[in-house]
Amino acid sequence: MSASSIDSHLLENRVFPVPAEFAAQANIDEARFNALKAEAEQDREGFWKRLAREHLHWITPFQQGLDASAAPFYRWFADGRLNVSANCLDVHLHGAQRHKAALIFEGEKGEVRTLTYAQLHREVCIFANALKRQGIGPGDRVAIYMPMVPEAVIAMLACARIGAIHSVVFGGFSAEALKDRLEDTGATLLITADGAWRGGKLVPLKRHVDQALLREHEHKVRHVVVLTRTGQDVDIVEGRDIRWEDAVAGQPADCPAEGFEAEQPLFILYTSGSTGKPKGIVHSSAGYLLWAKLTSLWSFDLKAEDVYWCTADVGWITGHSYVVYGPLACGATVFLYEGAPMYPRPDRFWEMIARHGVTVLYTAPTAIRAFMKAGDEWPARHDLSSLRLLGSVGEPLNPEAWVWYREKIGAGRCPIVDTWWQTETGGHMIAPLPGVTANKPGSCALPLPGISAHIVDEQGVEIHSPDQGGYLVIQEPWPGMLRGVWGNPERYRSAYWQKFDDRYYIAGDSARRDADGYFWVMGRIDDVLNVSGHRLGTAEIESALVAHPAVAEAAVVGIPHEIKGEAICAFVILKHEHVGDDRDELGAALRAQVTELIGPIARPDDIHFVDTLPKTRSGKIMRRILRAIARGEEITQDISTLEDESGIDQLRPGK
Ligand code: WTA
Repeated sequence: MSASSIDSHLLENRVFPVPAEFAAQANIDEARFNALKAEAEQDREGFWKRLAREHLHWITPFQQGLDASAAPFYRWFADGRLNVSANCLDVHLHGAQRHKAALIFEGEKGEVRTLTYAQLHREVCIFANALKRQGIGPGDRVAIYMPMVPEAVIAMLACARIGAIHSVVFGGFSAEALKDRLEDTGATLLITADGAWRGGKLVPLKRHVDQALLREHEHKVRHVVVLTRTGQDVDIVEGRDIRWEDAVAGQPADCPAEGFEAEQPLFILYTSGSTGKPKGIVHSSAGYLLWAKLTSLWSFDLKAEDVYWCTADVGWITGHSYVVYGPLACGATVFLYEGAPMYPRPDRFWEMIARHGVTVLYTAPTAIRAFMKAGDEWPARHDLSSLRLLGSVGEPLNPEAWVWYREKIGAGRCPIVDTWWQTETGGHMIAPLPGVTANKPGSCALPLPGISAHIVDEQGVEIHSPDQGGYLVIQEPWPGMLRGVWGNPERYRSAYWQKFDDRYYIAGDSARRDADGYFWVMGRIDDVLNVSGHRLGTAEIESALVAHPAVAEAAVVGIPHEIKGEAICAFVILKHEHVGDDRDELGAALRAQVTELIGPIARPDDIHFVDTLPKTRSGKIMRRILRAIARGEEITQDISTLEDESGIDQLRPGK
């Protein structure tokens, strides 16, 4: 064993084969999968070129494939030109497809609006003309700070249509977070709404915008377009602000799709690392779109008949790739929901799935665990038989939650597609193909065709022995990869390439591969614990804790320990019915449970029972905050991406 690898002790060995019925109709069957893998291995560049020719509509066809002359700044298909919005809309305007639903929207209050491909195309063209009228052209940055309504999708596609670079800022972010992003992108136009509905409450988006724009010398925003969503009063600043309705009035419904360079940035999206300020991840037009489309076809088996629902907000990469670009490029019907998942009751999701006949559901472990905690009776009330595939993204999906998702939502019928990827990767990287790959609960399975994922040790040497954890890296460039960090090429190099001399893209996650080649993500590298010389990922210990019937959610961090180096401190949320249980007994039971499932090495030293865990707004546990709390330190880190700042006090040990 390599001294710098990460130990794994929790070996989950359940296997669920691919349902034969599913395999028989899948976009990718075993023969296709093998052929794709073989093609990629023989001639990787030729593989991507063929796919880009077949799956994208080009205005000027490309000749060049990969340009590695300035590696690790890679370019793909650079001499070709295309229009991303035309690839999502115009290509579907033939025959009956024109009148099929592109978007089905449901507001939090229950109103439903459907836009066919023809209607969405029309709205996008009108808004694209409105943007031009406001002086926006190719390469200009446009910020989008909106609720989850069709106009958010329209705004993104309208930018793409005219070659403007969008930067979506999640509507749940504060004025301060918005201000930072506006400054960094140098956006000249901002699209927002008066407000948003969330959990029955009004979120005053326009008020946040006004605060963010207060100091004029710090940003470049000249115009603000304001959609009317809630109808609440807003201040309209003369000469700067314009109502959406006024901006589109009189604009023609025709906006020819001009071709833009394949490498023209399509968008900038900020991602918060564990340290430092958020990075503006830049994605390309052609390579990004190709990967968003292919992965939608491959991992989700997406078909034109699907009613597909990805529950992510368009403020995250998941919303970019799998609410907008991937599924629309495939010509699917996308379901869009505005509001909070449990509003007004914990069965809102299940009720909507039944009513709209959703066939493919893509959501996050944090949501799955919350539904589990709410109780089985909520999904049981609804007919979920329309579902044929279930996806997950964002964190490791612990086996306990995995099995619940499969049984209670998928009735044991639906393949579970646990997709590992990142803002930076543009699309799925490691995922089971639903018609090919048997499922193992807790594993994201195998790299997709064309993706060369490896595990390496601290020195960058590949680890081949099964179940030895290390750095998850990608060796070969792929079209969907990030093109850089906006305005900061140095940070791109140092964050993703430098450690192993530009040889690999470094994801920042730890993972292991089992004897069948399946990948198991163990957590972020920065969160790895070192207990008596054993390096342990967070995911397995948390998974062992959540496997106890009383536990709804858990997070572990290391605290300095004189003898062991680090001791394990666990924060545990109990299920409702166990909140009153004897804490000493529970603590002992949980320690015994971890000892049994993993071994004494992973036994938590401290266990704190808490009501909440600090999470980012996309639902990831912020372990660095827990680490500070467990160590009794002041919280000095940036907490601007935290979901609920008021929860922190409650977490302090002894409370
Ligand atoms: C984590 C979200 C385990 C991982 C698309 C990654 C996962 C980070 C999974 C990226 C998964 C995402 N299993 N871990 N299926 N999916 N992660 O940029 O740590 O918001 O590096 O992109 O989430 O988060 P991001």
